[in-house]
Amino acid sequence: MVETRLIDGKAAAAALRQRVAAAAADLAARYATVPSLAAVLVGEDPASEIYVRSKAKATREAGLAGIEHRLPAATSEAELLRLIDTLNADPAIDGILVQLPLPPQINPQRVIEALDPAKDVDGFHPRNVGRLWSGGEALVPCTPWGALLLLRQAMGALAGADAVVIGRSNIVGKPMAALLLAENCSVTLAHSKSRDLPALARRADILVAAVGRAELVRGTWIKPGAVVIDVGINRLPGEGGKSRLVGDVAFAEAQGIAGAITPVPGGVGPMTIACLLRNTLLAACRRRGLPAPEV
Ligand code: GUN
Repeated sequence: MVETRLIDGKAAAAALRQRVAAAAADLAARYATVPSLAAVLVGEDPASEIYVRSKAKATREAGLAGIEHRLPAATSEAELLRLIDTLNADPAIDGILVQLPLPPQINPQRVIEALDPAKDVDGFHPRNVGRLWSGGEALVPCTPWGALLLLRQAMGALAGADAVVIGRSNIVGKPMAALLLAENCSVTLAHSKSRDLPALARRADILVAAVGRAELVRGTWIKPGAVVIDVGINRLPGEGGKSRLVGDVAFAEAQGIAGAITPVPGGVGPMTIACLLRNTLLAACRRRGLPAPEV
């Protein structure tokens, strides 16, 4: 029986936001430059509304400029592409974020490919994806970058570790695998069609769950002492008609088995927004030819 440490994503995110705010204050003082982020929301998906509102609030709190563009659910793909052209051409905008998912009449890949890669603070454009895998200067997707910072904090060096990522989304699983590979881990990218997922998971020194299935990963799937990163945010019916949030990992079962684990909420979630602010700062410095701060 091991003592399972809790990885405090809220505290790590607050510290990162503080570092971004200090770097932004420095940019403003030295170069009279304020990095700016345009967040685009199409439609009224309630979860997306909350994300975009909290992204805009965190942006302003860090001393960056945040602009929200809200478009009706019936917006056509051509209309959205026109807005992106305008934001791409606007020299005052450093970062553009189009909240996903988009309504069904809009092809998300076409929208992502229309972004100026230098302003793609989500790191979803093929040029940033390619650079992430081939080792160039990329903007890296926020959630996996946040997860990597938590792993480094919990473990120090990651080189040589067996890492298993469950979930192969473009937003989390695939870029997470690329980042772990760049850290010299041996990476397995597992998914819903993987044979004997529990046995694969049990090999992992680092286990990242990013599938969006409540408590899929049981305690028996975890190698004793492994570091577990739970990216899932799932709503389950709770007491008194209220819902409760759970991750992709059965958190209570992991106690006494995992060496360390991120809670849900309060683990990876808060890191995503902090990393978005970091990417906006980096995009602003790179675009303007200014030295990019280490944050
Ligand atoms: N929807 C869920 N996660 C994300 C994200 O990281 N970025 C964007 N743009 N949309 C999302």
